[in-house]
Amino acid sequence: MLRVGYPSTLSSDLLRVLPQGIEAIPVSDTLDHDVEIDVWIPDPYANRAMRAWPRLRGVKLIISMLAGTEWIPPLVGPRVTICNAHGAHNVATAEWTVAAILAMLKYFPLYLDIQRSGIWKRRFEAGAHYARISGDADPIYPPVLLEELVGKTVLLVGYGAIGKEIERMLEPFRVNLLRVARTARSEPQVHAVSELDALLPRAEIVVLILPSTAESRWLIDRPQFALMPQGALLVNAARGPIVNTDALVESLNAGRIRAALDVTDPEPLPDGHPLWSCPNVLITPHIAASSPQFSLNALRTAAEELRRYMNGEPLQNIVQAGDSGGELSRL
Ligand SMILES: NC(=O)c1ccc[n+]([C@@H]2O[C@H](COP(=O)([O-])OP(=O)(O)OC[C@H]3O[C@@H](n4cnc5c(N)ncnc54)[C@H](OP(=O)(O)O)[C@@H]3O)[C@@H](O)[C@H]2O)c1
Repeated sequence: MLRVGYPSTLSSDLLRVLPQGIEAIPVSDTLDHDVEIDVWIPDPYANRAMRAWPRLRGVKLIISMLAGTEWIPPLVGPRVTICNAHGAHNVATAEWTVAAILAMLKYFPLYLDIQRSGIWKRRFEAGAHYARISGDADPIYPPVLLEELVGKTVLLVGYGAIGKEIERMLEPFRVNLLRVARTARSEPQVHAVSELDALLPRAEIVVLILPSTAESRWLIDRPQFALMPQGALLVNAARGPIVNTDALVESLNAGRIRAALDVTDPEPLPDGHPLWSCPNVLITPHIAASSPQFSLNALRTAAEELRRYMNGEPLQNIVQAGDSGGELSRL
């Protein structure tokens, strides 16, 4: 029987979605003895998973509950096959992205501040906010108190499972969509990442939704901020290290751009970090996928991968092919 370690923090009800023919073994981060398993579904909180790993023996395959798995290979080395939860968190992450774009264009952070102060007439601060961020010195009458999304140009950097879901959710807003991935293709048109700098001057909204890798580190740095139009909105739903944080802080403090960030570098963002107090930024503490459906969706994706593994079929979501290459026959 295939021994599958799962996070002891999960409700055992959820195990009903895993295939028959496995022995499900709870793995906690406080193990005081070694545990033999074949497949490990790590706790989605990396620090808990890291504490459990030294007690695990015999792991050939890791199936992550997350789409981003960059912390796993350094922990387990190159010999273990690693799959991610590709597709499991598309809806929650895409919804966060659209909500963050709308919140910033409707000035919700400012209006929440006004609500807390209880002073209605402060709403006219929005006009000054618009003048500063747009760089438009001529006052508009009546004053601008929010902006519209319809008709804006949105640059999606990363056009995978979540990028495509964001595109679907943005459809009713009739935005002009520009797409960037590693390689160019057509129908729909996707630009290669080498064209990013040429596209940035057209992008009123830049959405980052690509993995954190050596190639994507600091993809958005000082030159890229300089290429964005005045007042452009950077939305990072991906991973913090894709953006140079010092350059981001400089651009925000200079009033050049605005940002909505679910992820930061470093993470957690320490108390007193300059990013917390920058103007024109909305920060959520890496919560975009953490809906009540998170675990069920992730385990359903893991279950399909386990079914394939047990039937000797190719795995779908391999991010690192270890010694077993994901094949049960070599267990
Ligand atoms: N905030 C959160 O809570 C949260 C939740 C879920 C996921 N995420 C992050 O979102 C990322 C994307 O997830 P996904 O499921 O959409 O991944 P995916 O389906 O694997 O798609 C990744 C996309 O990024 C592109 N890409 C990869 N490296 C690139 C580079 N160096 N430059 C430009 N484009 C690059 C790929 O290009 P090709 O198409 O050419 O291969 C692909 O279009 C995850 O890796 C994770 O880090 C964050």
